[in-house]
Amino acid sequence: MSNIADTCESVGLGYIPGNNNWKSYVGNIWYKIFSQYNLEKKGTLVEIAPGSVNKIGNGLKSYGFNGKLYVVEPNTKSLATIQEQYSQILPACIRPIKATLKKAIPILPEKVHAIIANHPLDDMIAGKYLDKIGFDEFFDDHYDSVSPDKTRELWRRIESDPSQLQAVKQEVSDEWNQLIERTNPCLIIISQYESYFFRSNNIPSPDKHAFDVLNEIRIRYSNSESNICLEEYVENPSRWLVLENPLK
Ligand SMILES: C[S@@+](CC[C@H](N)C(=O)[O-])C[C@H]1O[C@@H](n2cnc3c(N)ncnc32)[C@H](O)[C@@H]1O
Repeated sequence: MSNIADTCESVGLGYIPGNNNWKSYVGNIWYKIFSQYNLEKKGTLVEIAPGSVNKIGNGLKSYGFNGKLYVVEPNTKSLATIQEQYSQILPACIRPIKATLKKAIPILPEKVHAIIANHPLDDMIAGKYLDKIGFDEFFDDHYDSVSPDKTRELWRRIESDPSQLQAVKQEVSDEWNQLIERTNPCLIIISQYESYFFRSNNIPSPDKHAFDVLNEIRIRYSNSESNICLEEYVENPSRWLVLENPLK
């Protein structure tokens, strides 16, 4: 089993799972959203947890972004791959940060135009249950080799202690709050759409818990949630969170 299509998420509106154009498809959604919100083309952006597959980068390329992009990704191999891809396609200044979100926060700028992340929350939860070796094993070549059994077993372990899981979800949500406090962004866009890989392998837990975290962030910044409806672009708008000037 194998390729991007297998690990892709089902966001609907025209995408046929199995189609190898998944990266472009998701990139195009991001492009439309950047256009909708008039993202600052020369601005300073922070992307969290890109993995090694260029999705947001494709959207930024189509949009003509040429500012400064901080890329926060703790997995060495993924960061190297995405940095190389971004350097090739984006006329932007790429600033890779090899760190988890928690460790990256103090070194990020105190004012940014936008924070962006595609489907980060399930992996941020899962990552908290892995030691260094397990983390690298799970996320190295994630898209080529991640097996449903390995993922199912990890999430079975995660759910075996509900109170610990609740604390971990709170920790992830708190890190996003700290990120927002630190960088005072004008715009935040996080997608956490349902995963085709999880759905087709009957692994509902990551989608459920990641959505809880997304909603936790949503509730905290409810006054800043954008009222522009994304239903023209995505199948389930509630799985996308857009905040405007959350600290105002
Ligand atoms: C496999 S990618 C999937 C999401 C990716 N944006 C996409 O759309 O395909 C998720 C990445 O999250 C990273 N990650 C896990 N925990 C993290 C954390 N606490 N902070 C930042 N990144 C994290 C992993 O290293 C992994 O490369």
